[in-house]
Amino acid sequence: MTFSRPGDPLVIFTPSGKRGHFPVGTPILTAARQLGVDLDSVCGGRGICSKCQITPSYGAFPKHGVTVEADALSEWNAVEERYDRIRGLKEGRRLGCQATVQGDVVIDVPSESQVHRQVVRKEASTRPIVMDPATHLHYVEVAEPDMHEPSGDLERLADALRAQWSIPSVTAPLSVLRKLQPTLRKGEWKVTVALHKGHRDEGFRILDIYPGFHEGRIYGLAIDLGSTTIAAHLTDLRNGSVLASAGAMNPQIRFGEDLMSRVSYAMMNPGGDVEMTRAVRAAINALAEDLAKQGDISPSQILEVVFVCNPVMHHLLLGIDPVELGQAPFALATSNSLSLDAAELDLGAMNPAARVFVLPCIAGHVGADAAAVALAEEPDKSPDLVLIVDVGTNAEILLGNTTRVLACSSPTGPAFEGAQISSGQRAAPGAIERVEIDPATKEPRFKVIGCDLWSDDPDFDAATAGTGISGICGSGIIEAVAELRLAGLMDAKGLMGSAEQTGTARMIPQGRTHSYVLHDGTADGGPLITVTQGDIRAIQLAKSALYAGARLLMDEMGVDKVDRVVLAGAFGAHISPKHAMVLGMIPDVPLDKVTSAGNAAGTGARIALCSVAARAQIEATVRQIHKVETAIEPRFQEHFVAANAVPHATDPFPNLNALVHLPQVSFNTQSGGGEGGRRRRASERAGT
Ligand code: FES
Repeated sequence: MTFSRPGDPLVIFTPSGKRGHFPVGTPILTAARQLGVDLDSVCGGRGICSKCQITPSYGAFPKHGVTVEADALSEWNAVEERYDRIRGLKEGRRLGCQATVQGDVVIDVPSESQVHRQVVRKEASTRPIVMDPATHLHYVEVAEPDMHEPSGDLERLADALRAQWSIPSVTAPLSVLRKLQPTLRKGEWKVTVALHKGHRDEGFRILDIYPGFHEGRIYGLAIDLGSTTIAAHLTDLRNGSVLASAGAMNPQIRFGEDLMSRVSYAMMNPGGDVEMTRAVRAAINALAEDLAKQGDISPSQILEVVFVCNPVMHHLLLGIDPVELGQAPFALATSNSLSLDAAELDLGAMNPAARVFVLPCIAGHVGADAAAVALAEEPDKSPDLVLIVDVGTNAEILLGNTTRVLACSSPTGPAFEGAQISSGQRAAPGAIERVEIDPATKEPRFKVIGCDLWSDDPDFDAATAGTGISGICGSGIIEAVAELRLAGLMDAKGLMGSAEQTGTARMIPQGRTHSYVLHDGTADGGPLITVTQGDIRAIQLAKSALYAGARLLMDEMGVDKVDRVVLAGAFGAHISPKHAMVLGMIPDVPLDKVTSAGNAAGTGARIALCSVAARAQIEATVRQIHKVETAIEPRFQEHFVAANAVPHATDPFPNLNALVHLPQVSFNTQSGGGEGGRRRRASERAGT
């Protein structure tokens, strides 16, 4: 956009490239606003906030066709001098609201002065967050009350916001009204307000008010409310940085381990849903208090909360009976996103006027957590066909590209998290997380969380003396089962052989089946850590559910292979792609096409917390995502049964087979293992 007033100096902003002519004496902040340049201001150009800092450039700029003279901007004024004296301005910086145009000039807007700055994320594979928060601070000067013109303090504050910030109208909750009068008087009619404007037709709402110019920070919580754990990130609403993160167990576990058991608890116990709602809200309040303490802030500085969660967690958080989600057609009370007051959810451990945004659900079984994964990973913008798997107690699966995105969820159960596993435990120091089994000697070696050494390292015992070797976590059990298959100790059906059949004393009998001894710490009073036939069965059920969900989406898409796989979820980050493929958890792709996205649902929550544009974007995307219902789809059962084999009964795994050797063994107990093995080989020779 160019304002052409030939003769007036030319002002060019970088990095946006926006330019226009402005009369001598125009403040740079005014020029920026007229051109739509992203230059921050909290104090409205009064020289108080220093958010409007810019860097003028001098000299010849042939690219822009201008030469900037030394006097292109006004001299430093008293406000800038005072600010520099007290707070310090970086070399070469000016306050954009104080420096005025005197000649042609090139102005750089540093990223700290941009409202919509990009936040570089730690996970390099995913996109940066562009700041566009719903809540901003505005400094205003309010007219004093006048006997001759009777109007309320709020109305005069609203007038000031209209005149000074072009805010058409505002509302204020009771918590703000209660402190409005003392705050205005304490600030001598100058106040800073935290003003919230959602992306939909919600108006402007004052969330808090502070006397004078308030430099304090305002924060939000991005919460990934899972069935097993609740993860929360305390995030600075000005720059998106995470001040502190914390996690807690979801206390609803005592009412049922998985989603359906919680729905049945609600169905069978009158008031059970209310109990679960109360429990989860109390846990969220405790987390908010804990995070405020960790971040050394007042809980009242928490002004916004964004939730992502599966549909059952969604309903229980909101205090909606989840009974309809337990039976076909799995109707949600609402699938739209929600903007609410935190007080409506009894979230008292934060500012009383805090606002809550809950991401939309995709469908009755595919929740706001899957929507958050879609927001973070953007399958709808992927040119190649990507399968995104968020592994948890319930796996959320997305398949898509720029033409179409499909989603489903699959009930994998908690085995991938180390639950329902005989020596299973949560991922914590001392848990076995990596496993290798030598195919020749059948001897294992492993790594535990908290130690970088393998167990066959001479220093391993000393290095793990503090933590001990306590059990096996989700990634460890996946690797152990896959390694058993690679070492020929477990057959394609998932059956383990005896010591005689396999030639290793590490196979010990357990009832009518066999277990593999991964670590025997009993001599030193430690545990005997084994992989049992039951463990393998639990992993088989979980992986079959995951694979069947993915296959169902592939059927719907009309494809029998995908281009790449993204493993999301805190646990997804720790899965070894090779072992996941040996197990047949995910479809066969080249190994370098399997990537980890970290906690994508949590990232989606943070993106939505920092950006109202992202909230609008995910609402639009969710409407485009086609949902596939696994529970009523007969083909799901067929895929599930075929996926029980390791890696799969019928699907070829060409990439995997080129990479590893899968021994052809069979330990069918009914016919005797060795016998079965011989018969299998004989039948293979016969081509049957
Ligand atoms: Fe606040 Fe310039 S806008 S100091």
